Amino acid sequence: MRLSCTVLIAVLGLTTFTATAQTPAAATKPNATPAPAHATKAAAKPILAATPPMGWNSWNFFNGRVTDKDIRNAADELVATGMKDAGYNYVNIDDTWQGDRDADGVMHANSKFPDMKALADYVHSKGLKLGIYSGPGTKTCARFAGSLDHEVQDANLYASWGIDYLKYDLCSFRADVMTAKAPDDKAEQMRLMIAAYDKMGNALAASGRPIVYSLCQYGWDSPWEWAPALGGNLWRTTGDISANWNSVYAITEEQAGLAKYAGPGHWNDPDMLEVGNGRLTLAENRSHFSMWAMLAAPLLAGNDLPNMKPEVKAILTNKDVIAIDQDKLGRQATRAYADGEVEVWTRSLSGGAKAILVLNAGSDRTANHPFHLDLARLGLHGPLKGKDLWTGKDITVTNNMPVELVSHDTLLLRIGAAK
Ligand code: GAL
Repeated sequence: MRLSCTVLIAVLGLTTFTATAQTPAAATKPNATPAPAHATKAAAKPILAATPPMGWNSWNFFNGRVTDKDIRNAADELVATGMKDAGYNYVNIDDTWQGDRDADGVMHANSKFPDMKALADYVHSKGLKLGIYSGPGTKTCARFAGSLDHEVQDANLYASWGIDYLKYDLCSFRADVMTAKAPDDKAEQMRLMIAAYDKMGNALAASGRPIVYSLCQYGWDSPWEWAPALGGNLWRTTGDISANWNSVYAITEEQAGLAKYAGPGHWNDPDMLEVGNGRLTLAENRSHFSMWAMLAAPLLAGNDLPNMKPEVKAILTNKDVIAIDQDKLGRQATRAYADGEVEVWTRSLSGGAKAILVLNAGSDRTANHPFHLDLARLGLHGPLKGKDLWTGKDITVTNNMPVELVSHDTLLLRIGAAK
């Protein structure tokens, strides 16, 4: 559901943000409502999430079963597998860590997480960062306690534990507040939702600790238009991903048109990675990872790290592909053209380089039926020297070059200047 929120933004006084701006300060227009205090202060500090966050999140593999031990193991595995060296540095606890609030309203973790501060210390001792999960309602999606009316208290608690990342998931806020307060007024419901995300954004900014702020409200009401002004470093653009091609591809298609909203410190989030999970074939895992890299998406693995197959590890740690995702310009790919079931996406990279992705999205277009890459439609002219990022081989890209791809596989090229 993507409704226009121009009116809502005006009501909330969030007109200081324009999507193309790289910093909140640059977005301030004469006569505009002053930027929120945290946005102005942020201009002087290093940009948080200057490149898309990378790490691992517990939900896609563990769901509600995650424990302190699983998080420690995940930290150990990120180091042992080389994923940390490849850039994965957040270990994010998703839903189901929460226990009860005490008489002072202070939240305590449940028995699966005996000492959150000690866990944060452990993760930090590995050179990694720790993420946590909550939501603006009374309950999270797994029906654990949310942060409603305890936003400042919770943000300060996370900071005291040493938390570095918060995923804030809408869940019961819909019933608790949006439909309870404005049953028949969709616009008011969205205003309430945006205000709730603003509240936690302010609480995090005031906590004194840099905490990456991840909005998870499934892309409702075009968060790319308003989330950066609330201090959001990333915002989900879609519903939940699942570990199958239809889900991955449907999400990919929803990202066309969102490129201009991404940039250093503020990213579109097409949801966490399912690489290595479910029924995805190797070609599909490659395409999923390639597309997320092209989209400058957060790369949050969600697989079973201790039992990761070598071929899955090779995908997740392909440094050339990760370098596309993490390119410091932060320019998300756009879809250059689609000819039937084959799509071509391009992305500008720092130093004048370019990434080109060709995806065979068809379920029955075979590799021996080559697709011809039309460089003119990309504003390019061959021959161009480049590298095939999945074979690792140098390649000369020519006009109308034949590309042979099995169903759901991807050709990912870097052309131009060396990285
Ligand atoms: C969903 C969210 C998932 C996961 C889950 C936990 O709303 O999209 O990524 O966090 O809640 O309950």
